[in-house]
Amino acid sequence: MKSLVVSGIQPSGTIHIGNYLGMIKQAVDLQDSGGYSCLYFIVDLHSLTSKYDPKKKPGDIIGIATDLLAAGIDPEKSPLFIQSHVLEHANLAWIFNTITSMGQLERMVEYKEKIASGQTPNAGLFDYPVLMAADILLYKGQKVPVGEDQRQHLELARDIARSFNKRFGETFPEPGGVYTKAPRVMSLTDPDKKMSKSMPAGCLYLSDSPKKIKQKIGAAVTDSQKKIGYDPENRPGISNLINIYAGFSGSAPESVAKQFADASYKDFKTAASDLVAEKLKGIQERREKFGRNKKEVIRILEEGANAVRPIAQKTLAEVKEKIGLI
Ligand code: ADP
Ligand code: TRP
Repeated sequence: MKSLVVSGIQPSGTIHIGNYLGMIKQAVDLQDSGGYSCLYFIVDLHSLTSKYDPKKKPGDIIGIATDLLAAGIDPEKSPLFIQSHVLEHANLAWIFNTITSMGQLERMVEYKEKIASGQTPNAGLFDYPVLMAADILLYKGQKVPVGEDQRQHLELARDIARSFNKRFGETFPEPGGVYTKAPRVMSLTDPDKKMSKSMPAGCLYLSDSPKKIKQKIGAAVTDSQKKIGYDPENRPGISNLINIYAGFSGSAPESVAKQFADASYKDFKTAASDLVAEKLKGIQERREKFGRNKKEVIRILEEGANAVRPIAQKTLAEVKEKIGLI
């Protein structure tokens, strides 16, 4: 039997190339490799843990589904669905809450960072990683394409699988992350920080026009050295552009650095802008097509939920029996 790949993405804000290279491209490549069964979902319940406008939420959900389809998620191969349409996610999360300690959650860096950045924590934000563990284990997922920033959450999912198995008998595989060569895309304007929807200035969006791409990459912060070189520790700006080039071209960052060793920063930036614009062109064209057909996107999401629901129901029934519920 093929290993099962699962991943989720939040419906919040516009997708940037960090989301794309860190998670979406990986999800598409795993699907297209033919070696795995894949299922992907939009984690609308997770997205309720940050401040949001209920009027905008439906559009955000359809928007991200459209982005995923445009980026190459093929519903014929991989069910694509909305997390809250399969009720078992929240149900399993509750059960996992009872085998997760406060201490395990208090250690979560993403939670601590969100509080440090001024977000008032709700109980859902604290519990966020438990719901993520439920998302994965509900399908007995084995591989999870995510960005580097999700590594700690994935470790928690493994811990939860292990403690459940130990206490109630072998039930869940321990899921592993699948990370890209360029796992963390940094902000174009502040390359010491990761590119994030919360800092729009440093983001390059999947929807950006070739002109915008040229402008943003052209203005990206680099350094005052003369020669292009790959050294993420000491030269984060130029190394980030090399990583972006590598991510879109499929070559290793070191070989990109070698290829452009004698080029000027300006020429390299032009080459990088052209490459990114060319790779995004197909996605943007498909986005436009799906964007005009909202009904079809909704149909795909409903069909996806219908396809996976029986698996979710089976796992939850097994779990309930093992933990002693009738
Ligand atoms: P953001 O931080 O922009 O709000 P999300 O938290 O919604 O992004 O992340 C969605 C997916 O994209 C996750 O799998 C995450 O690991 C990945 N991701 C987000 N930002 C980056 C980045 N700068 N580089 C690589 N992957 C990223
Ligand atoms: N926490 C992930 C993020 O911020 C989103 C997510 C929720 C997820 N559930 C998941 C990712 C399950 C992979 C698998 O990006």
